[in-house]
Amino acid sequence: MNIRQLLDQRLTAALQAAGAPVASSAIIKPSTRPEFGDYQANGVMAAAKQLKMNPRELAAKVLEQTDLSDIAEQVEIAGPGFLNIHLKTDWLAAALPTNTQLDAVEPQTIVVDYSSPNLAKEMHVGHLRSTIIGDAVVRVLEFQGHHVIRQNHVGDWGTQFGMLLAHLADLQAQGGELSMQLADLEAFYRESKQRFDADPAFAERSREYVVKLQSGDPECLALWQQFINISLHHCEVAYQELGVSLTRQDVMAESAYNDDLAKVVSDLQAAGLLTESEGAQCAFMDEFKNKDGSITPLIIQKTGGGYLYATTDLAAIRYRSRVLQADRVLYFVDVRQSLHFQQVYTLARKAGFAPASMSLEHMAFGTMLGEDGKPFKTRTGGTVKLADLLAEAQERAYQLVSAKNPELAEAERREIAHIVGIGAVKYSDLSKNRTSDYVFSWELMLSFEGNTAPYLQYAYARIQSIFRKAGNLEQGQSSIQLLESSERALGLKLLQFNEIIDSVGREGQPHHLCNYLYELAGHFMAFYEACPILREDVPTEIRASRLQLAQLTADTLETGLSLLGIGVLERM
Ligand code: ARG
Repeated sequence: MNIRQLLDQRLTAALQAAGAPVASSAIIKPSTRPEFGDYQANGVMAAAKQLKMNPRELAAKVLEQTDLSDIAEQVEIAGPGFLNIHLKTDWLAAALPTNTQLDAVEPQTIVVDYSSPNLAKEMHVGHLRSTIIGDAVVRVLEFQGHHVIRQNHVGDWGTQFGMLLAHLADLQAQGGELSMQLADLEAFYRESKQRFDADPAFAERSREYVVKLQSGDPECLALWQQFINISLHHCEVAYQELGVSLTRQDVMAESAYNDDLAKVVSDLQAAGLLTESEGAQCAFMDEFKNKDGSITPLIIQKTGGGYLYATTDLAAIRYRSRVLQADRVLYFVDVRQSLHFQQVYTLARKAGFAPASMSLEHMAFGTMLGEDGKPFKTRTGGTVKLADLLAEAQERAYQLVSAKNPELAEAERREIAHIVGIGAVKYSDLSKNRTSDYVFSWELMLSFEGNTAPYLQYAYARIQSIFRKAGNLEQGQSSIQLLESSERALGLKLLQFNEIIDSVGREGQPHHLCNYLYELAGHFMAFYEACPILREDVPTEIRASRLQLAQLTADTLETGLSLLGIGVLERM
């Protein structure tokens, strides 16, 4: 059990024993300043208010109901009724060796819908956020022991495939290699769109292709399938480059739900949830009433019978509940789709597609912006391709590494540049609160100072160099001792790893882990300044203790970065 849970359990029980209502909680938080102790309990005030009691008196009663003397050296009542908890240093030191071993959780089945690009075009930077953040959360959940099912809900269906197939069929008629023709999907899409807009005959043929595709014409399906395979291959190249854990097995495309859509509509109709409006089938739900009293409907079927994005998402929810038996479904999708998800979730609940026991969570993220504060674009205003961005990251990292370590062999510099460059791109995204927009800056993300991947990778490499130097010294045996204040602060921080993992798994916010690792590295640097390790006059058992602290720090950095999908280096 992590420290926070332990204190929460004991103090919440004490709070209730002191007469507070059963729903009250001690609300334990790490203290923000050392003089407030290591942890604070903030829940007494709210309980006192409910009991119409003086909060400091209630706090005193709480302390009578519990004995924390095995773990805390002092607990004081502060301000209006906070409890400041000063933990025992010996207790911290003894708890340390197990700091990256997680507490057992009740394993849940968690479906994570992420990356999910549209296959008509090349993956662009907009899908980068979903891919990177989703993959980090997936890793954390698996590390906690949950059963995670990745779902790459790629867009592979819809009217734009008509024009793409019509254009592709023409190129095929001229001969040539398909994968060559589709080497640049972005250009291919542009050409098709140009023809579609300029040539009415081509537009007509495009529409015929849509009808043929949707009615299951074998030739048309075969062509479509080839297109999808090549487009998916482009995605896989990007996943590999990024070190993202998605594979072909995780693809559950929009088209996979095709056969369920008619049933979704008829079930919604039977439940009385749909209304016809201008020929379309719509759900008007009171929850989505606007200020003027009108309701924003969710359109389920278009005039003429076509299905929509929402129809597929409803089918997917039913599948995730009935077949995958999910306890939680997490959607890592742009915040601009919030209304869509709120409407889909609400309708799914009403229709009984999603039981109350299955939680549906839109893990929304903001837009990636350029340094000018506008959506991230190429210099000429086009969308930035993911592949180009990743190539540039590695090139820039290569220049930095070569300037820093000109003596390293070319191949080693390339290898370092890959890990640093990709790590920097991922970390700069992961370290921001995902719900806000974020500014993409090469200079900031590749800096060796501040809250960046290179800084953390460098901190790790630096600890490895301590071990290389320590190799020749007499090491000695000792349990961990936290003698200096910087040592104690590092020890406490190490013990908080567990709590952070817990919160990332719950909230899907990897920036908590980033901030934690950054602070951990800072505590290590302060410890390393204040507490000599290798100096000759350091007694062997103190050296042994400090080397263990260094080892735990390195392990925690490595584990934490690997959960973010970022590699470390032995030297850099
Ligand atoms: N393909 C969509 C897009 O690029 C994202 C899909 C997200 N997942 C979902 N179940 N709707 O905008």
